[in-house]
Amino acid sequence: MKIKHALLYLFVLLLFWQCNNPQTEILQSPQPLLGVTSQRGMVVSAREEASKIGRDIMQQGGNAFDAMVATEMALAVCYPNAGNLGGGGFMVYRTHKGEVGALDYREKAPLLASKDMYLDQNNTYLRDKSKTGGLAVGVPGTIAGIFKAHHKFGSLPIQTILRPVILLAKNGFKITEKQAAQLNNYSAVIKKTNKENSLYTKKFKPGDVFVNKALAATLQEISNKGRSAFYQGDIAKTLVRFLQKNGGIISLKDLENYQAIWREPIIFNYKDLRIISMSPPSSGGICLAQILKTTANFPIASYGHNTTKTTQVLVEAQRRAYADRSHYLGDPDFIDIPVDSLLSDAYLKKRMESFSFQGATPSHQIKHGNLLAPESKETTHYSIVDSYGNAIAVTTTLNASFGSKLYSKELGFFLNNEMDDFSAKPGAPNLFGLIGADANAIAPQKRMLSSMTPTLIERDNKLWMTLGTPGGSTIITSVLQTILNVYEFNMSMQQAVDAPRFHHQWLPDVVRVEATSFDTKTIKSLESKGYVVDYKNPSIIGKVDAILVLPDGSFEAGADKRGDDTAVGF
Ligand code: GLY
Repeated sequence: MKIKHALLYLFVLLLFWQCNNPQTEILQSPQPLLGVTSQRGMVVSAREEASKIGRDIMQQGGNAFDAMVATEMALAVCYPNAGNLGGGGFMVYRTHKGEVGALDYREKAPLLASKDMYLDQNNTYLRDKSKTGGLAVGVPGTIAGIFKAHHKFGSLPIQTILRPVILLAKNGFKITEKQAAQLNNYSAVIKKTNKENSLYTKKFKPGDVFVNKALAATLQEISNKGRSAFYQGDIAKTLVRFLQKNGGIISLKDLENYQAIWREPIIFNYKDLRIISMSPPSSGGICLAQILKTTANFPIASYGHNTTKTTQVLVEAQRRAYADRSHYLGDPDFIDIPVDSLLSDAYLKKRMESFSFQGATPSHQIKHGNLLAPESKETTHYSIVDSYGNAIAVTTTLNASFGSKLYSKELGFFLNNEMDDFSAKPGAPNLFGLIGADANAIAPQKRMLSSMTPTLIERDNKLWMTLGTPGGSTIITSVLQTILNVYEFNMSMQQAVDAPRFHHQWLPDVVRVEATSFDTKTIKSLESKGYVVDYKNPSIIGKVDAILVLPDGSFEAGADKRGDDTAVGF
């Protein structure tokens, strides 16, 4: 163990030396080998502004949980396609005392929701209704989530935490190149959904300053009056009026009833790592555990990173885990989930009996399915560590980019389309091509199944890594590969996050690889073994934001190069 640590330390020193020594330019790749490092604390999120606000809160004496509230709300301002007040999320935490836990602030189906609400009289699935407009919206959980986290662990007053966020909304932030392209891409559908112009229906160019006064006022009201402003007060009334005008069914009673819930996280071992990840209603922790526990039976380090054999092991483990996801997983407050059986070594070994390196196990031999829908997946993840020893991993979402596309001009925020994460009709794929069953059928007040996988990892009883990502159904497999990249393939945190990724989710029976970066030799070799490989899809797989604790106790960030993601440390 000690030798392994010493080797890792030497490796990291070498990387530092390579990055800082002008004589060694020849050794440097175009991407930095090592991410941003810091000594005392770090925030890695989808936007520099949000990471800075989280860092500033910690520098004012706040802890990681105060920084969580600030970062979450700052993302709602400057990353409005996924950061939110109108969505929900999950947090996994580890305190300086080593206590671990999870917070579920996932959206819920409204009281008036019903199993067949997206089917017409001929049992035809009205796909658009669960994706766009008022009926797609689940009861938002984010404000309940941040207040629950703050109540238990926060140390600074909520007004202090929200002050810089309100200023960000009031004074504006600069639109990046990627963001301008995305905003312009969505402006037509936002206009069509809302039947009116708004801040989001303009033409944008990089460098434009985006100001949202309505959102600043909403945040000010929450800062002054607390959680109840959103769930009972004027914001609640405005929100319900707006949703009902747009075909929604969320009532004041729904908002009043909403509660974020502390959950026991999923905890399991991978070799000498202790992994703490999100429990249902997210499938993330269970699927990650199934795939990693299966992978532990194969010497993938000796096969090599993204080689045919490693890819085969991971794809076959993913195929089987996603088949189980579809059948067994849903809201634990509504169904019994056989967690122990799903994670038992004997069961996982048995599941892989049909696997051979000779060729693919076709998914139809396990179950049947349908094709992926083309809509983009927008969620966002941030990781925070503080100088007191607390660490958090938070993934939050509106589901699709800009959620249901419904934007309240009065309140300044978008509403989620999380209802699409339910199984609207058995066998019908959702936005992410995921097939569901009864376990994830719609019911009033039920939480829809998620793939979000905020994860913390301990090694030798100490914090080792915090990570997570957006990406819908690809979240689980992106988290998986990032962990293995560091642990099995000796990459730095930044390299692990940037490395090319692939994904398989049982149905459709396709290995999706990142088109521009995945090795063509591996693709050909996989095809020769009967795998259908999609290397034409231009979309990225995940945008992982992670922090690794280095052997000397300092932090290294992995801020995914695929987005505007930025690490800010101190
Ligand atoms: N809305 C994506 C997920 O929760 O998995």
